Amino acid sequence: MLMKATAIANSNIALVKYWGKRNSDLILPYNSSISMTLDSLNTKTTVEFNKEFSDNEVIINGKTVEGEEKARVVHHLDLLQEFVTEKVFAKVKSESNFPKKAGLASSASGFAALTLAGIKALDQNLTTKELSILSRRGSGSASRSVLGGFVEWNKGSLPDGSDSHAIQIEKEDHWPELSMIVTIISTEEKKVSSRVGMSQTVKTSPFYPAWLDTIESDVEKMKKAISQKDFVLLGQIAENNALKMHATMHTTVPPIIYWESGSLTIMKEVITLREEGKECYFTMDAGPQVKILCLEDDLEVIKSRVNKLDVVRDIMICHPGKQTSLTDDHLF
Ligand code: PMV
Repeated sequence: MLMKATAIANSNIALVKYWGKRNSDLILPYNSSISMTLDSLNTKTTVEFNKEFSDNEVIINGKTVEGEEKARVVHHLDLLQEFVTEKVFAKVKSESNFPKKAGLASSASGFAALTLAGIKALDQNLTTKELSILSRRGSGSASRSVLGGFVEWNKGSLPDGSDSHAIQIEKEDHWPELSMIVTIISTEEKKVSSRVGMSQTVKTSPFYPAWLDTIESDVEKMKKAISQKDFVLLGQIAENNALKMHATMHTTVPPIIYWESGSLTIMKEVITLREEGKECYFTMDAGPQVKILCLEDDLEVIKSRVNKLDVVRDIMICHPGKQTSLTDDHLF
C-alpha cells in the first residue's frame, strides 16, 4: 500500500493573538485566540512513509532542510506515527506561496498541512478536533488553520491539552467582504522565533499580566463583532490587541522589536486613511509585515494608497478562506 498523501492548508492571521505558553512541550497557551483563515496564503505538503527509505528527507520551498528546522518536522512525524505500530522514515516536500518565517504564519499552514497529509498517509481517520490538537503540537497557530473562516482556539484547562483546540465561529462565506491587505516590507527570516519570543515575554515583561487581564474581554468582543459583522468593532479590537501584544514584546529583557521603520510608516498611513474617513485597521504578528483590515468597497482605494509607499515591496489580498483539505495532486 502506498503510504503517501498531500494536503493544502491556508495560513491564518489572528485577530486576537496567542502569545505565551503555559506548557511548552504540549504547546498549551495562557490565552484563547481568534483568527481568520486566509484564502490566498497557502502551503501544500506531500508526505510519504516508506520502509525502503534509509533516512527522513525534508524539502521546504525547493531546499533540503537540515538541523533544527528538519528536527521540528521529524519530531512531528514521530508524534503522528504514535497512531501506528511500526515507525518508518518519511519524505516530506512542502511549498508555500509566501515567504516563510517572516511573520506571515507559515508555521500555521505548514504544520496544519503536514498533520493532515501525514495522518492520511498513515491511513488514519481523525476528527477535526483531533487534527487541531495534533497540529497544535507542531505550532500553536496551526491548530486554527485546520478550520476555515473565523476560528477560536480555546485555551482549555486540562493538563493533557485534550480541550485546547480550535472551533469554528463562522464559515468562510459568512463575511466574504472582509478583506486583508498583507503588505510585505521584508522577506528576511526573523531573528527571534515566536517560540523564543513568547518564553522571553512570559519570563521578563512586566506587562504580560496586563495582557492576560484584557484577553477574555477582547475574545468576547471579537466573537460579537464577527457574528454581527460589526467591522468597526472588529478593527478596533484587532488593532488594539496587536499593539498590546507588541507592548509586551517591546518590554522584555532584552527587548524584542519585530517592527521595522517601514512597519511604522504603514501603521501611520492606516491611521491617516482612517482620519480621512476610510475605515481600516492594522494588525501585526512576530515579523515586520503589516496586515490591513478593511471592507471590500474600500479595498481598491486603500490598496493603491498603501502601494505608493516606498517601503511596500509587495501586496497580497486575502479574504476568509477554507479549511485544510486533501488533494491527489502530489508534489512528488
Ligand atoms: O504558532 P506560532 O508559534 O507561530 O505563534 C504565533 C504567534 C502570533 O502569530 C504572533 C500570534 C497568533 O496568534 O498567531
